[in-house]
Amino acid sequence: MPTNRTFTMIKPDAVQDGNSGAIIKMIEEAGFRIVALKKTQLTPERAGEFYAVHKERPFYNDLCKYMSSGPIVPMILEKDNAVADFRTLIGATNPANADEGTIRKLFAKSIEANAIHGSDSDENAEIEGNFFFAHIEQF
Ligand code: PPS
Repeated sequence: MPTNRTFTMIKPDAVQDGNSGAIIKMIEEAGFRIVALKKTQLTPERAGEFYAVHKERPFYNDLCKYMSSGPIVPMILEKDNAVADFRTLIGATNPANADEGTIRKLFAKSIEANAIHGSDSDENAEIEGNFFFAHIEQF
C-alpha cells in the first residue's frame, strides 16, 4: 500500500551554492507539500548510519565524507505518488543522464555532488524521515 510521503535532503553542494530556495520553490511548484524541514549537518558517523545500506559499495566512504562536509536541508514531503513523482522531479543520479528541467540537471555538479536525495521506496521514505524528524515535527 503506497504512502503519500517521501524524504529528501538538499545536499551540501547545493546548500553551499545558495540553491536551497530555488530547489524548494521547484518542489512546491511541482505540488509537494512540506511536512517537515530544517537545516542541519551530519557527522561522518551519522552519514554512515544513514547510508548503511550502501556500505559495501566502492563510493561509500567518499559519499559519507561528502554528505558530512557541510549543512544539508532535509525535508519530508507529501503528494499522491510521492516517491515516484519526486524521483522524476530530481532526475537521474548521474546529472549527465538527468532529463532537462530536472533538479539534478539544473543544479548537480557530479555523480557525488548531485544536489539532492530522494527516497527509493515508501518503506525507506518512512525510515529516512524518522531518522531526521521526531513525530511532533511532522505536520
Ligand atoms: S539510487 O538513487 O539509490 O538509485 O542511486 P544509487 O546509484 O544506488 O546511489 C546511491 C547513493 O550513492 C550516491 N552515489 C555516489 N556517491 C559518490 N560517488 C559515486 N560514484 C556515487 N554513485 C552513487 C548517489 O548519489 C546516491 O545518493 P542518494 O543520497 O541516495 O541520492
